[in-house]
Amino acid sequence: MTLHPRTMSVHASGTASTASTASSAQSAQEADSRVLDRSIGSFLRELRRLSEEQVERILVHQHSKGIRFGEAAVDLKLASSEDVLWALSQQFHYPYASNEGAQFDPELVTAIDPFGEQAEAFREIRSRLMMDVLAMDQPRRALTVVSPDVGDGKSFFAANMAIAFSQFGGRTLLVDADMRTPRQHGLFRVPNGVGLSSILAGRSDADVIHHVQDLPSLYVLPVGTVPPNPLELMQRSAFGLLMHELKTKFDHVIVDTPAAALGADARVLASKCGAALVIGRRGKTRMKPIQALLSALDGSGTRLAGVMLNDY
Ligand SMILES: Nc1ncnc2c1ncn2[C@@H]1O[C@H](COP(=O)(O)OP(=O)(O)OP(=O)(O)O)[C@@H](O)[C@H]1O
Ligand SMILES: [Mg+2]
Repeated sequence: MTLHPRTMSVHASGTASTASTASSAQSAQEADSRVLDRSIGSFLRELRRLSEEQVERILVHQHSKGIRFGEAAVDLKLASSEDVLWALSQQFHYPYASNEGAQFDPELVTAIDPFGEQAEAFREIRSRLMMDVLAMDQPRRALTVVSPDVGDGKSFFAANMAIAFSQFGGRTLLVDADMRTPRQHGLFRVPNGVGLSSILAGRSDADVIHHVQDLPSLYVLPVGTVPPNPLELMQRSAFGLLMHELKTKFDHVIVDTPAAALGADARVLASKCGAALVIGRRGKTRMKPIQALLSALDGSGTRLAGVMLNDY
């Protein structure tokens, strides 16, 4: 089940190559400006709990061979290449889950393998969105991920997209608004006792947003108890007010939704959030339901961020 970058394409306005170049230059600049406040050695020391004697051996080896600390540690089998990659990612404020970060679900490919093909595809889409629907000069929008059917990949996509945005540096919130079959709390292993449904029902607004361990800029608002009346809850003015507040508190807000086939939730959510990215599944999604979804969104004042084909 791989997600191929070439098939995971966003058809949004704007030139793709310009968008991605500008964005990566910007992120490189940001990384440069915050660079190197801790050495690789100190990250590795902490991760591997190296003793003074082990650090000394690494330093001696490093100097005798004229290599870097990380390489020397790997040579002496006191760290793995994966550890060094993790330490580098921390040094450049580019967080991802190390081997120790096994609390992440294997579906969170952008966190587990941030330099892999799939993560690269998510970054490419992030760049395009940031040059278009989610650009700085645009009105603040939350991005809903919508699709016609169950199993098209909305939750997978929303989770990994949120990680990609958080890796860019801005405070990112992933809202699980699939109040029918919520999955984000499971993917990120955050408590799900209270959440969006509790806020909308007026029962709770404290301790509902959880920080994701190992990913410093990422937060998750789970569904909480699955309510019997999800659509009614979303249609309350409380939802609009909540989204307005969340958009002022977070730089990026990504919203997971239930399949359009299950009811009007996705359309209502999209119109209250401002933007929608439509997902279809290659070889499965038919034209008719996609067209129906697009015209429903069109009539709801939602800004269409693009249509993406998920190939898995
Ligand atoms: N590009 C992909 N690569 C690998 N696995 C994928 C991909 N897209 C989806 N999947 C997998 O397919 C399954 C269904 O995906 P997901 O739960 O994201 O669908 P969904 O659209 O959210 O479904 P629902 O409407 O029921 O909420 C998951 O196990 C997910 O990990
Ligand atoms: Mg889902």
